[in-house]
Amino acid sequence: MKVFNLVARSASILAISLPSVLASPVIARDTLEYEYVIVGSGAGGGPLACRLAMAGHKTLLIEAGNDQNGNVNISVPGYQAVVTNDPKLRWDMFVNHYQDQSRAMRDPKFSYEVAPYQYHVGPNPPSGAKPLGILYPRAGTLGGCVTHNALILITPHASDWDGIASITGDNSWAATNMNQYLDKVYEWLPVEPTDPTILLTDLKLTQHLASGAAVMGVGPDPVSAVTGLANTLLNDPNSRLNPARDSSEGFFQIPLIMKSGTRTAVRDFIADTVQKGYPLTVRENCHVTKINFDNSTTPKATGVNFLDGNSLYRASPLSGGDGTAGSATATKEVIISGGAFNTVQLLKLSGIGPEAELNSFNIPVISNLPGVGLNMQDRYEIPVNVKHGADFSVLNGCTFDNKPQDACLTKWQNNPYILAARGAYATNGLAGAMVQRSNYASTTDIDLFIFGGPVDFTGYFPDWNDAAVADHKHFSWYTLKAHTRNRAGTVQLRSTDPLDTPIINFNYFDTGTTAGGADQLDLDAMIQAVNQSREALRRYADYDILGGDAFVEEEPGPSVQSDEDIGQYIKDRAWGHHASCTAAIGAGDDPNAVLDSQFRVRGVQNLRVVDASVFPRIPGVFIQAPIFMVSEKAADVILNG
Ligand SMILES: Cc1cc2nc3c(=O)[nH]c(=O)nc-3n(C[C@H](O)[C@H](O)[C@H](O)COP(=O)(O)OP(=O)(O)OC[C@H]3O[C@@H](n4cnc5c(N)ncnc54)[C@H](O)[C@@H]3O)c2cc1C
Ligand SMILES: *[C@@H]1O[C@H](CO)[C@@H](O)[C@H](O)[C@H]1NC(C)=O
Ligand SMILES: *[C@@H]1O[C@H](CO)[C@@H](O)[C@H](O)[C@H]1NC(C)=O
Ligand SMILES: *[C@@H]1O[C@H](CO)[C@@H](O)[C@H](O)[C@H]1NC(C)=O
Repeated sequence: MKVFNLVARSASILAISLPSVLASPVIARDTLEYEYVIVGSGAGGGPLACRLAMAGHKTLLIEAGNDQNGNVNISVPGYQAVVTNDPKLRWDMFVNHYQDQSRAMRDPKFSYEVAPYQYHVGPNPPSGAKPLGILYPRAGTLGGCVTHNALILITPHASDWDGIASITGDNSWAATNMNQYLDKVYEWLPVEPTDPTILLTDLKLTQHLASGAAVMGVGPDPVSAVTGLANTLLNDPNSRLNPARDSSEGFFQIPLIMKSGTRTAVRDFIADTVQKGYPLTVRENCHVTKINFDNSTTPKATGVNFLDGNSLYRASPLSGGDGTAGSATATKEVIISGGAFNTVQLLKLSGIGPEAELNSFNIPVISNLPGVGLNMQDRYEIPVNVKHGADFSVLNGCTFDNKPQDACLTKWQNNPYILAARGAYATNGLAGAMVQRSNYASTTDIDLFIFGGPVDFTGYFPDWNDAAVADHKHFSWYTLKAHTRNRAGTVQLRSTDPLDTPIINFNYFDTGTTAGGADQLDLDAMIQAVNQSREALRRYADYDILGGDAFVEEEPGPSVQSDEDIGQYIKDRAWGHHASCTAAIGAGDDPNAVLDSQFRVRGVQNLRVVDASVFPRIPGVFIQAPIFMVSEKAADVILNG
């Protein structure tokens, strides 16, 4: 299973600064005619646009944000928290976990607006503050959320694909067939683990990770913990050689989308495709407002209307302008890849969605599809955080502010060739994971991913990035619950203004899917994970020989012990960041299906959706790998029928 190549790669890392060939071309309106028009350059739209252009098709990729090439925030893995707060990329979406506001406000992360893009977090807001909900970070930039995410690549389970095949009867979705699309993804996506030697120089961190490994039955011998753990951390959770991989429990390294310690992903694939001269035009700083249709027979998508302008969407703290209207036509197809929230908004604004909602906004109905904006799913996440008296030495000199005093940035910049020498910024800080199947799982697949790192993270709220690294004394085990059962989330229009954000309700736990005790099963799995995280913290004492200092638990905190109290803590504070399934593929006779098995929007022609929205059930443990595979599959379907 040790398939990672830890040997430093060649100097190609230095060639990463591809010239900025992407500046919005100013093209006369009447020449904006393409074969394919794709809206959104993230995990779904980016690879698809590249593949269509590489096959010789004249393709327009429209992106509301812009290319942040050269911005150190996007390339340094250690800045994965900092980058989510960069105003040049960030879209502040606020969501409701519960529609009952008093219940929602039990979460200390509940936020209020005190002035435009200025927030109050937690109880006792100043008078006049407007309740917003829970921050849900998104990115408006070339590469979408892949350009600011936590870099973790975990490939999906076979059951995720086989489930779509069985719902639709389309066997091209069978896991055995989907494998080829993972091969395609690896053609452009570099993946490597954190070099264990970076982590294991910090014996206190080693002590924590060894304790996690011990819980999973693979704890190293305390006297040779460093070498023992180094071996364990070479275990690849994405191994394609292990036939029982989907159900394999254990302690694993976390694979990251980087090349020699530099984030390298969708943005770079797009830049590379343009640079090689394929017929791909990227129109940045361009917000699509409507899909246009020709109604002569069955409505046929013919192109899009847009507004040119920097940061127009009001989720951006840099927004303010009205933009300049324009349009583009697609002789073959329009493909929407705006992400789970924005794809829904754009479809509805264009007349595709539930009739009653469209009527209430006086939007003429092109296709009455009640499922648009329903079925939204996410994972649940929860931490167990502890605080030490002394710092984690691996973070010495890291100020996480890209100022000259950031010694860790200097180290990263000065050692481009050797991963180990790049130091703490050549990792996302999340070192290893306890991977487990809970007692409450519905299938044989693992459903708990509990990862540990020296960071203080309790979920997303304004300026969460500063809080996460305010000191170097915290360690946390975070649980991410896979195969969640709640499908009750919704995305609805707030207004007909395309620059407005939509209304997003997740309807957590007992306010969502409850049939068959679904909510309690998910909650019990999470409680088990908190137990397990605490068990790892208890084992820390078994590795005292490594000399780490003592800690106190801060979250959930010593007073939260009974299953009931842990359950309440989870209900109040859990979060997610893999929103999906809002324009789902489904069976032909399913009234809530939005797409057929070839990504085609029902009731219209020449229109597809390719992004996180397409899944009927939330896939895998992390979502970007399945979206990349869907993007590759969509390219194949479009090019080869
Ligand atoms: C903080 C954070 C950390 C994460 N970490 C991980 C991780 O470690 N591993 C993982 O697997 N997943 C992670 N994710 C989730 C993952 O990155 C996203 O689920 C994924 O990128 C979604 O892909 P998408 O194509 O659906 O949408 P996106 O990647 O969001 O792309 C949509 C793009 O469309 C553009 N757009 C939207 N509307 C319009 C419009 N009207 N006109 C023009 N352009 C438009 C947006 O600007 C955006 O660039 C993380 C997410 C966040 C927020
Ligand atoms: C990186 O993001 C931070 C916000 O977290 C911002 O203050 C800083 O200016 C950004 N750095 C660059 C180089 O743009
Ligand atoms: C198609 O019908 C919709 C809804 O009735 C209308 O808004 C649109 O203008 C029509 N387009 C054409 C090209 O006729
Ligand atoms: C959590 O641990 C407690 C104490 O060991 C135990 O009683 C309880 O059953 C566990 N809960 C779950 C859901 O595993």
